[in-house]
Amino acid sequence: MFKRRKITVIGAGATGAATAHLLALKELGDIVLVDVVEGVPQGKALDMWESGPVEGFSVKVTGTNQYDDTADSDIIVVTAGMPRKPGMSRDDLLKINADIVYQVVEKASKVSPNAVIVVLSNPADVMAYVAQKASGFAHHRVMGQAGVLDSARFRTFLAEALGVSVRDVTAFVMGGHGDAMVPLVRYSSAGGIPVDRLLDAATLEKIVTRTRGGGGEVLGLMNVSAFYAPGSSLVEMVKAVLLDERRILPTISYLNGEYGEHNIYVGVPAILGGAGVEKVLEVDFTPEEAQAFKLSVKSVRDPLSQLSY
Ligand code: APR
Repeated sequence: MFKRRKITVIGAGATGAATAHLLALKELGDIVLVDVVEGVPQGKALDMWESGPVEGFSVKVTGTNQYDDTADSDIIVVTAGMPRKPGMSRDDLLKINADIVYQVVEKASKVSPNAVIVVLSNPADVMAYVAQKASGFAHHRVMGQAGVLDSARFRTFLAEALGVSVRDVTAFVMGGHGDAMVPLVRYSSAGGIPVDRLLDAATLEKIVTRTRGGGGEVLGLMNVSAFYAPGSSLVEMVKAVLLDERRILPTISYLNGEYGEHNIYVGVPAILGGAGVEKVLEVDFTPEEAQAFKLSVKSVRDPLSQLSY
């Protein structure tokens, strides 16, 4: 008998809600939105569900504060977290968010033992590690989102500079999110033509810098973190898994010897399919890229060493 897929989105804040709505529009499955705040996931879910007749989607969207309602999910998306408050250091926030992610993943994974987990909560590389520990799932069934968003920003700016459709631009980023990101210009192309043949070095440098600061640029404008493009990025990963698409997407994946690294989650190109991260792809680095990737790995190891997971 056909059974509709079930998707749990934990965190009914800006990104969780944007993600849930897009998932519904794309009819990827029934959606359960969970949050610790009473009423918010229920209200947002009801509002989204009521857009169904207008948008023409038949999936159901429900909201809850109880993990029992998320049982037997095929995929769990984690967006729960706290924004940084005045007087709070980055390390304080790291510990608070790690505790939140550990708690919510522990509860959700218990009732959905066969799910794949995709983590967005920041810092996502570290939180993916925490989520794997909390769930005890095989490493390939736990991943994080950062690179799809970073490369979407990269593609947006490249396409604008080239005056072409974003659809014809592919771009590659690796490593950690934000400052630690490693945009690989050599592996980025427009209509199959490497972008360094189409744009001069100064323009490319500007685009790379803007991409690295992409999250901060949005935050600076409206004083809250981005959520539309992060939501879209999560949905692309969810779709790749639920439909077993075998997409090659930059994914925060567990490294077990790949790129010479062990016991760490970091952004690398990976094949995403029904089993989760089906394979990590290894690409050659120039010495500068290798150095940037090493720094990126360090930017994940340092915060991880402050946590006791
Ligand atoms: N269980 C469930 N939900 C929780 C918990 C918890 N223990 N703790 C916090 N939340 C919820 C909050 O109630 C809030 O609704 O997580 C939601 C976070 O939403 P926002 O504050 O709007 O944050 P958002 O912009 O969606 O970002 C979420 O993604 O990009 C990262 O750094 C960002 O870690 C943050 C996360």
